[in-house]
Amino acid sequence: MGREFVEKEKIVESLNWRYAVKLYDASRKVSEADWKLLEDAMLLAPSSMGIQPYKFIVVKDPETRERLKSVSYGQTQITDASHLVVFAYKKTLTDTDAEKLIDRIAGVRGTSRESLADLEASIRSAAKKAVDGGYVETWNSRQAYIALGFLIETAAMMGIDATPMEGFDAERYNEILGLDDHAAVAVAAVGYRDAENDWLAPLPKVRKDPADLIVHV
Ligand SMILES: Cc1cc2nc3c(=O)[nH]c(=O)nc-3n(C[C@H](O)[C@H](O)[C@H](O)COP(=O)(O)O)c2cc1C
Repeated sequence: MGREFVEKEKIVESLNWRYAVKLYDASRKVSEADWKLLEDAMLLAPSSMGIQPYKFIVVKDPETRERLKSVSYGQTQITDASHLVVFAYKKTLTDTDAEKLIDRIAGVRGTSRESLADLEASIRSAAKKAVDGGYVETWNSRQAYIALGFLIETAAMMGIDATPMEGFDAERYNEILGLDDHAAVAVAAVGYRDAENDWLAPLPKVRKDPADLIVHV
């Protein structure tokens, strides 16, 4: 018996159903089981060399969420969605990051650290190159966006709404959340739309002509 896949028709249907919700129904909460699945989706996102140079900060405290809203142009999704995740990328990479990753691989796969020496060297070298080249923050934040994408798409498949958001003051987020070696780069509000009152809910999705985006060569 092969494993089951999501029905193909359901994929495009779900992706068309999803939109960047502006108004959430604050009374509807994502169940714990569903939330666990969404956390799994973020954890299972791919990252360059498997470094996962980020943290997903799930903000539960209502007061903190109010403060975050005040530095997010007052966008109500920040407080009204069932869950709020701040994606924070790691500001630098050191040999310790490479070491920890190798320890983890050795532990999970039951292989010796010695057999992973070449891999450790390439991770160290890539990290150093990114730091020296001044692009480590760009590199790490890009990785965080992949997890953001995984979260949004998985939520859509589950009939859960999610709004990706960059409309906030990242510096203030870092202060409010007490971030030090990480920095906020994106947010996802997750919950259930208020379909009756969200002005965007009834409007058709707008995308470029596929021919302008997808190039077959
Ligand atoms: C990186 C990123 C940042 C965004 N920031 C915001 C935001 O701050 N507030 C908001 O309401 N929508 C935000 N959006 C949603 C986009 O406006 C929306 O995805 C786009 O218009 C396409 O529409 P759709 O997602 O409804 O299909 C953001 C989307 C992305 C990918």
